[in-house]
Amino acid sequence: MLHIQENISLKDYNSFGIDVKANHFAEIFSEADLQTLFENEITQLQKLLIIGGGSNVLFTQDYEGLVIKISIKGIESIANGEDILVTAGAGEVWNDFVNYCVEHGFAGVENLSLIPGTVGASPIQNIGAYGVELKDVFESCTAFEIKTGKIRTFNFSDCHFGYRESAFKGELKGQYIITTVTFRLASQPNINTSYGAIETELQNRGIEKPNIADVSAAVSHIRVSKLPDPSTIGNAGSFFKNPVIEKYEFADVVAKHPDVVHYPTPDDKIKLAAGWLIEQCGWKGKVVGQTGTWKNQALVLVNHGNATGKEVYNFSAQIIDSVKSTFGVTLEREVNIL
Ligand code: FAD
Ligand code: EPU
Repeated sequence: MLHIQENISLKDYNSFGIDVKANHFAEIFSEADLQTLFENEITQLQKLLIIGGGSNVLFTQDYEGLVIKISIKGIESIANGEDILVTAGAGEVWNDFVNYCVEHGFAGVENLSLIPGTVGASPIQNIGAYGVELKDVFESCTAFEIKTGKIRTFNFSDCHFGYRESAFKGELKGQYIITTVTFRLASQPNINTSYGAIETELQNRGIEKPNIADVSAAVSHIRVSKLPDPSTIGNAGSFFKNPVIEKYEFADVVAKHPDVVHYPTPDDKIKLAAGWLIEQCGWKGKVVGQTGTWKNQALVLVNHGNATGKEVYNFSAQIIDSVKSTFGVTLEREVNIL
């Protein structure tokens, strides 16, 4: 039974733990709930915000509108040659979905273990970690069109995935609510341990021929050592994107800062490690009022208890200014600011 609540605190619905209120709030468990919700006047008369786990948002003020939390569940799989097509409801917790795949021997998402949030949000910013992005396993998704109430299917080529980008953040922003995502996974794993500390972690565990469960465990271990747990320290993961710059711009940066941490991109540009830039500016582990950066990862901004969204936002602006004046590079926020 659909229940629209009024004047509700969003503190438990965002991983930053920011205490703001929404005029209205509804939790959705099925596509039928969505149809019912959009027949209601309350929905038609105000602005809308879709959330899953709230782990990539920063609320800087009360939300004067309707917040729609997507909790559509269910996981189904069918074999397709050597591949497995797995369809999950948008409200499945991402890491529960990863664990399901690992337990069933469906390979492809093990490097994305322990990312907070929901399946439905995973295409929005094309989540990525440890050498894999959502786009590498994405087959299609279904979405409710807000204007018409129709369900539409989006294939890979419709989504325009890029680094922390997709059509859902760009030209289609605010138009669709993702209801299911289908992944193309493999019965024969293609183990990918090339990124960062995965190899070292596997060696420490004495594992020479890792399976997908080993990779998932190694990635989870590394993540826990670097990133704060939102259930104790509010945060939304990386606050900024790693900046991608042209080669000629990079030439200026590296001339002045020869040890700058950087990686080539497939489109012949250079990606800089924002965490390194921020650390070099002296911000790593800094506590400023109720906010600051995480002691083990300067790219993560945290709530030390009672931070307001405005406080975190203003702090992020200070970091942007400082990185710009030291390196001439402009950081872009990765977290959705509301
Ligand atoms: P929300 O925060 O609820 O929403 C995010 C955006 O998606 C919003 O714009 C929202 O409107 C939209 N949205 C959500 N659900 C839907 C839907 N069903 N239909 C349409 N729009 C929707 N991200 C990475 O990519 N890699 C990482 O390694 C990573 N590590 C993290 C570590 C920590 C500790 C934290 C807190 C976050 C991390 N993140 C990472 C960010 C976050 O986990 C991802 O962005 C995740 O996909 C957010 O899921 P969510 O359900 O919480 O989305
Ligand atoms: N670094 C520093 N100081 C820091 C943090 C990082 O010098 O305080 C250096 C590290 O030493 C390393 C490099 O920066 O050489 C990269 O660091 P790390 O491997 O921790 O990854 P990242 O680039 O900071 C990105 C993603 C993460 C993802 C990891 C692992 C972005 C914006 N962030 O972080 O995603 O988990 O790689 O693949 O691309 C997120 O999006 O919320 C997120 C956590």
